[in-house]
Amino acid sequence: MEIVILPTPADVGRAAAGKVAVVISANPTAAIGLATGSSPRGIYSDLARRVNAGEVSFELARGFALDEYVGIALEHPESYASIIDRDVVKPLGFDPSRVRVPDGRATDLDAAAKGYEAAIHAAGGIDIQILGIGTNGHIGFNEPTSSFASRTRIKTLAPRTREDNARFFDSLDDVPTHCLTQGLGTILDARALLLVAQGEQKADAIAAAVEGPLTSFVPGSALQFHAHATVIVDEAAASKLRLTDYYRYTYDNKPEWQRDQ
Ligand code: F6R
Repeated sequence: MEIVILPTPADVGRAAAGKVAVVISANPTAAIGLATGSSPRGIYSDLARRVNAGEVSFELARGFALDEYVGIALEHPESYASIIDRDVVKPLGFDPSRVRVPDGRATDLDAAAKGYEAAIHAAGGIDIQILGIGTNGHIGFNEPTSSFASRTRIKTLAPRTREDNARFFDSLDDVPTHCLTQGLGTILDARALLLVAQGEQKADAIAAAVEGPLTSFVPGSALQFHAHATVIVDEAAASKLRLTDYYRYTYDNKPEWQRDQ
């Protein structure tokens, strides 16, 4: 796992966007796994800047959202379908027909989950999966004790996740109770994982995911299984890591040939 510690949230967004830009430049039809929430916003805004500068294009790319709330109206501003459209599809110039979000309004949620897995498979798999991490260590909405082998499925949101996400809604009662989420097994199948975190409130989750034992109690620790996982954090989110000197030394001395990997 590569761990990169940068001074500010803006630096995190820029560096992570650079990783996505390398993937899309090498393969214009790449499939990008798209996280929502506040963590990846800096990535999307920096990618939009690169698109506007003519450096990269997402016209042929495919996109797969990580998750969606169950039962939320499609047009609700906090549905992940709305957020993906607003923060990703429009500013990055994706073809909307090439971007999918799990269907949290399906009458048969199990079939919707299986269909989502099939769509990822038909696209040839995800080339790079963008991830945030919850304060309880979840990735996607794989809450603590999710199986490392899990696939896209319905999950019950943990009370802490609903409390954390209440800031996006009028009240805690308005936060949905369930979601459809890519499973940990689905996420681990992506060719590369790119997790970003900013702020002191993520420091415990980052330390547990990166340096703690492999445990389904900290779903983010699943990244330790992946051969090509990058974690990019600001100083505050890195504040509870123990090997920070080593991570900084490694990054500062990265050979030129390895810079784009
Ligand atoms: C979002 C997702 C979640 C968030 C996590 C952090 O699609 O899957 O795992 O990445 O809850 O949320 P923020 O970034 O809002 O702190």
